[in-house]
Amino acid sequence: MKIKRIIVANWKMNPRTTQEARKNFLHVKKTAEKLTKVQTVITPPFIFLESFSKETSRRCALGAQDVFWKKEGSYTGEISPAQLYDLNVTHVILGHSERRRLGESDEIIRDKIKAALEYRLNVILCIGESERDTEGHYLAFLKNEIKKSLERIPKKQLARLIVAYEPIWAVGAKAKFADTPESLFETSIFIRKILSDTFSKKIAFQVPILYGGSVTEHNAENFLKNGGVDGLLVGRASLDFKEFSKILKIAQNVECAT
Ligand code: PGA
Repeated sequence: MKIKRIIVANWKMNPRTTQEARKNFLHVKKTAEKLTKVQTVITPPFIFLESFSKETSRRCALGAQDVFWKKEGSYTGEISPAQLYDLNVTHVILGHSERRRLGESDEIIRDKIKAALEYRLNVILCIGESERDTEGHYLAFLKNEIKKSLERIPKKQLARLIVAYEPIWAVGAKAKFADTPESLFETSIFIRKILSDTFSKKIAFQVPILYGGSVTEHNAENFLKNGGVDGLLVGRASLDFKEFSKILKIAQNVECAT
């Protein structure tokens, strides 16, 4: 278990105005700055990044929700890792299920990971099955997602990799329930085993694993305590700065069982 917990706010396509976004950001920052054992990462829509770029710090970092795989050029509508880096962005979420649903393949995700790592961005790679079966097919699915998205990525760059396990059935407004800490514990061990078999034991233990999917102030502690993970990726609950600040404080104070 790492010394610091990583708690990521995925604001998705919210809020509507810069004014609201700044208010949320500054409130969260106030709490985040006080927490010695938590690294907070806020990932707003691209459009707000510039307005936050001078306010970031080690404890309250700035992340993006996507990035393109080229440095510059004729790619209408895209944002490059170099442009993010220039705005003090240190993290980027890649492979989120809501982007995979729009057609992003493991190959595209791999190209984006490669480019982001080259620009010294920390990559939060999301993986997750759409259905949980009892025969363990979902584990084979996760293995495939990890292997394909990290294919041919140089080992030394994996020091900046974070894996977020987000079972699709637990993510977003249509989710019926979150995963359980007990089942998350098993899955997190499985993810470490894949990383160990594919790369090395060292990498398997060095890569932080996060859980995402219907995290709230009520279940955060149990996931952090008993789920075998190093942090959380929070969607809806991160839009309410009061609830998100509570989650950050929980992460600061939680005692870990492992
Ligand atoms: P949720 O989203 O917390 O709203 O389920 C998590 C995510 O999509 O990262």
